[in-house]
Order: sequence, then C-alpha cells, then structure tokens
Amino acid sequence: MNKKLVKEVKKSFKSHFKTKPLIIFSPGRINLIGEHTDYNEGLVFPAAINKGIVFAIQKNNSKKSNIYALNKEEMHKFSLNAITPFKKASWQNYILGVVAEIQKKGIVLENFNAVFAGNIPSGAGMSSSAALENSVVFGLNSLFELGFSKKEMILISQNAEHNYAGVKCGIMDQYASMFGKKQSALLLDCRTIKSNTFKIDFKDYKLLLINTNVKHELSESAYNDRREVCEKVSRLLKINALRDATKADLDFIKSNISEEDYQKCLYIIQENERVHLFSKAIKDNNNAALGKYLYQSHNGLSKQYKVSCKELDFLVDSTKENPNILGARMMGGGFGGCTINLILKSEVKKFKKEISKLYQKEFNKECSIYSVKLSKGTRKV
Ligand code: GLA
Repeated sequence: MNKKLVKEVKKSFKSHFKTKPLIIFSPGRINLIGEHTDYNEGLVFPAAINKGIVFAIQKNNSKKSNIYALNKEEMHKFSLNAITPFKKASWQNYILGVVAEIQKKGIVLENFNAVFAGNIPSGAGMSSSAALENSVVFGLNSLFELGFSKKEMILISQNAEHNYAGVKCGIMDQYASMFGKKQSALLLDCRTIKSNTFKIDFKDYKLLLINTNVKHELSESAYNDRREVCEKVSRLLKINALRDATKADLDFIKSNISEEDYQKCLYIIQENERVHLFSKAIKDNNNAALGKYLYQSHNGLSKQYKVSCKELDFLVDSTKENPNILGARMMGGGFGGCTINLILKSEVKKFKKEISKLYQKEFNKECSIYSVKLSKGTRKV
C-alpha cells in the first residue's frame, strides 16, 4: 500500500467534503498461471499486490451522492433512486454497478461522498477495475453495516463488472483482490470459490512485469466471445463447464465444431492441467519447471486461445534466448497489458535496459517495468 496515496485521498476528501472518511485499500492482482480458466470453473493462481485503489467514503445526509476520481479530477453526482449505467468504458460504471447490485438485494442505501485514487497502471491487466469494485463494496459494507461476507462482496463486484462494465468476467480478479495474503499466491478453485495459500519464494529468482503499454480495442467483446465459445462447447458436451472435459471428450465431438473452437477448448483443458502442475512445481521448488509451464501457457494463449498480440508475443519471445529468464507469458485477459517473467534477481537491472531498448526499437514506444510485492487483500486502512 502506498502511504502517500492514502494521504492524498484523505486531503482531497477533506477539502471537498469537510468530514472524516472511512478509508479502504483494495489491491490489484497478478496471476502466476491459469488464464481464462476461471469462467470455465477451473483453477487459477493469482496474488494480490501492493498497488491498488485507496477509497475514502462517508455518509452525507443529503439528497445526492458524490464521487470524486482524484486521478482524473472528475466529480460525479448521482441520485440513488435512479441508477443506470454511465457512458461505456467510464470509471463511474464500476461504482454505480456495485451500488446497483447492492440495491438489487433490496437494500436501501443512504447517500454518501467518496474520493478515490489508484496506482495500478490502467490497461495493464492488473485488475484495477476489480480493485475499485471491491473497494466500493467493502466501503459500503463497512459504512452501512450491511453484513456481507467477503464472498458475497466479490460476487457483487463480479456482477457489477458483468452488468455495468459489460465484461462477463470470471471470479479470479475480485477473489484475489479481496482475499490476497502477504507474500503468497492463492491456488483458487473457481467452482467452489475456495483457495489454498502458497507462500511464494523463488529463491534467486523473482517475478518481473513488463507492460506493453497497449490496450487493443475490442478486447472486451473478444473476451465475451471466448467465453461464449467455451459455454457453447460445454453445452454440446452436456457438462457444466470445460473444467469437466478431457481431451478425449473433446476429440469425440471434434467433427461437430470448428478447428478454431476445438483449439480454444483444448487450450482451456491444458491450461487447467498446467495450474495443477505449476502448483506441484512450487511445492517441489522446481523453478525450471515453473518457467517451462509459463512458456507453454503463453504459447496456448497466443496460438490456440488467440488472446495475445504482437507486442506481448515480442516481449515473451525476446526472453527465450536469455538463460537468466526461466519463463514468461502474457498475463490477464490479453490483447495488451503485461507479461509476467521469472528472472534471476541479479540480472534484472541488465535485462531491464536491454528489453526497453529492444521494445522501443521494434514498436517505437516505451514499455514499463514493475516489480511487485505480494500483499494482503482489501482492508480498512
Ligand atoms: C480478466 C478477467 C478474469 C479472467 C482473466 C483471464 O482479468 O476479469 O476473470 O478471466 O481476464 O484469465
């Protein structure tokens, strides 16, 4: 968590609203492995990080609610009686969506003031949206003593994303952001919504994120399209979700589906298996195997599931001849955002210089490089 950010949010709240707020920190997340498996009721392996959203909230005894987005310097005033989605792709929807989902449960909220700011690079695939949704639901839950469990809160956040942001996401981001643990990753079963905590220590190696600084258009519709393919094939197989399918099952119906859809579903089955293998390699301290699975995951995401892009592929390919990097892959929904790399700690500085130069030369734009700490989930400050 960033103390400076907390200070800034407090200051801004005081200057706008003159009262003392409740303050929530809600983190973004990384994902070690298990991409697009969450909405197939499969396994994922995310962790909350030390970057996130600081959200300040207080009741205001008035007829309207006010939210100030400090980073954007935008104020939004709205009435609790008439909540509808705001403009497409606007920050307001993550907040309005959460409020609407709470109201759907028959709860009557009072008006409030809020200020928020964040330090998760947007579009980086580190779930700034889940962090914001969780901060809002956690804030409202605390302020109005709504009595929601953490699990209920993440389902509210997820529905806000579905119904107000229009992305039919799985539960990984909201879960990781809410339940994250210090220095740990969570092996999450997205069917039971229960996780096992793994302390993460890669010894001489560390995780490094490289942001392509691109976010390709259509990433949302492409995401929803992928989900539809998985659901369509599940129906054909007469199962609840691809989590229950084997390659043999898929081969059995191969002639009824397109080669593209076959490859997408095969990817999901293989990626789910890789999460198992990855968690075993962590237990065995087998860093070399971890690296191998990262590369395999990327290959599947790029060639079979088709959610990568040239910038991500370039960053991953550029690591392949480097003996100090065990593995790399794109992270998150895809079509831009970051790669996650497992790299020898002593070589980070040198690699940063090299990759920045290469990326600049290839795309005539900068990449950004981050180290993150695995951290606790959504909480009061
Ligand atoms: C986005 C979604 C998640 C998950 C990932 C891909 O981050 O919000 O639910 O599907 O993409 O693994």
